[in-house]
Amino acid sequence: MRPLSVAIVGATGMIGQEFIRVLEQHRFPLGQVQLFSSDRTAGKKLFVNHKEVDVQEVSSRSFEHVDLAFFAPGAEVSRHFSPIAAKAGAVVIDTSSAFRMEPWVPLVIPEVNPQDLKDHKGIIANPDSSTIQMVAALYPLHKINPLRRIIVSTYQSVSGGTGSAAMEELTIQTKQILEGRSTTPHAYPHQIAFNVLPEIDVFLYNGYTKEEWKMMEETRKIMHTPELGVSATCVRVPVYICHSESITVEFTNPITPEDAKKVLSQSPGIRLLDDPDISLYPMPWSVAGTDEVCVGRIRRDVSHPNALVMWVVADNIRKGAALNAVQIAEILLLKGWMKVA
Ligand SMILES: NC(=O)c1ccc[n+]([C@@H]2O[C@H](COP(=O)([O-])OP(=O)(O)OC[C@H]3O[C@@H](n4cnc5c(N)ncnc54)[C@H](OP(=O)(O)O)[C@@H]3O)[C@@H](O)[C@H]2O)c1
Repeated sequence: MRPLSVAIVGATGMIGQEFIRVLEQHRFPLGQVQLFSSDRTAGKKLFVNHKEVDVQEVSSRSFEHVDLAFFAPGAEVSRHFSPIAAKAGAVVIDTSSAFRMEPWVPLVIPEVNPQDLKDHKGIIANPDSSTIQMVAALYPLHKINPLRRIIVSTYQSVSGGTGSAAMEELTIQTKQILEGRSTTPHAYPHQIAFNVLPEIDVFLYNGYTKEEWKMMEETRKIMHTPELGVSATCVRVPVYICHSESITVEFTNPITPEDAKKVLSQSPGIRLLDDPDISLYPMPWSVAGTDEVCVGRIRRDVSHPNALVMWVVADNIRKGAALNAVQIAEILLLKGWMKVA
C-alpha cells in the first residue's frame, strides 16, 4: 500500500500530540505528514517518526494533496475547515462535536459499527469520549440481550474536551489551595481542585447539559437504537486523564453478572478488571495511557430483575479520541473504503 499523505489539525494540542504517538505506535503508513495549528504556535517544530516537522497555520489551501486529515482543533475550527479539506479530496476524521449528529456523517466506534464507514461522504466523526467508552462496554452485551435503558453518571477528567489549559488550571489551583491561597476559575464556572462539578458544557432548556444530551443522542445513533432510553449525568472531577462511569443498564431479558463477564472478557478492546476480593477494579490512575475500555464492579441491580450495574474507565485522550480515530482510518484502509462513496 502506498504511504498516505496525512494532515493533523490541532497538532500542538493534547489530542494532536496523541495522534502523533498513536500513528507512530501503530506504524501507520505515513507518507508526507503536515501539522497544523493556529497562528499562536505556527512555526513550532514537532517530531514525527524521528523527523522534525514545522507546524503551520491552517488555511483553506492546507489540504491540497492530503489523503487523510485528522481534526482536533475544537468544533468551531472543524466546522469551518473540515468541509474545505473534504472538498479538496481528503478523508476527514473529526474528533469534535461539529458533525456528529449530521445524518450523512458516520459516527463510529470501530468495535461497534465499522460498517457505517462504508458509505462515508468524506467526513467521519469520532464520538464524544464519554460516549465511546460506555457504548464500547455495553454493545457486546446488547448483541446477546438487547438493551432497554441506560442510566449513567460520569466522572470526567479535566483533559476531556477542555484540553491542556484545564489540566494546567487543576495543577495551579491545587498548589494555591495547599499554600492557603484563593483560586480564580477560568476553565470552569467553579474551582475544580478538591471539588466536583455537575456541569459539563452549557445547560439546555430541559435541565440536562449539552454534554449529557450529546451522550444520549450519540449512543442511539451509533447503536442504531432510536428507541433506547438513556439518561446521563456528566460530572467533572479533579483527575487529569481517564473518564470513569457508573452505569446501570436494563436488558430485555434477565442476565447474570457471570454471563456479562464471560461476554466482555471475550470482546475486542475490552479489559475486564473485576475481583472485589482483591479490590480489583479499573481506576484512572492505572488505566491512563492504555488502550482498552476497562470494566469492573459488575453486579446485579437489586432493584430490577433484568438490570446490571458496572464501572467503566478508559483513557479519554487515547480510546476517547486519537486511538479511536486512528482505528477508524485503519478500517478504511483495510476495507478499501478511503474513497468517497
Ligand atoms: N472524544 C473526542 O473525540 C475528543 C476528546 C477530547 C477532545 N476532543 C476534541 O479535540 C479538541 C482539542 O482538544 P485538546 O484537548 O487537544 O485541546 P488543546 O490541548 O487545547 O489543543 C487545541 C488545539 O487546537 C488548535 N487550535 C485552536 N484554535 C485554532 C484555530 N483557530 N485554528 C487552528 N488550530 C486551532 C490549537 O492550536 P494552538 O496550539 O496554536 O493554540 C491546538 O493545537 C477539543 O476541542 C474537542 O473538540 C475530542
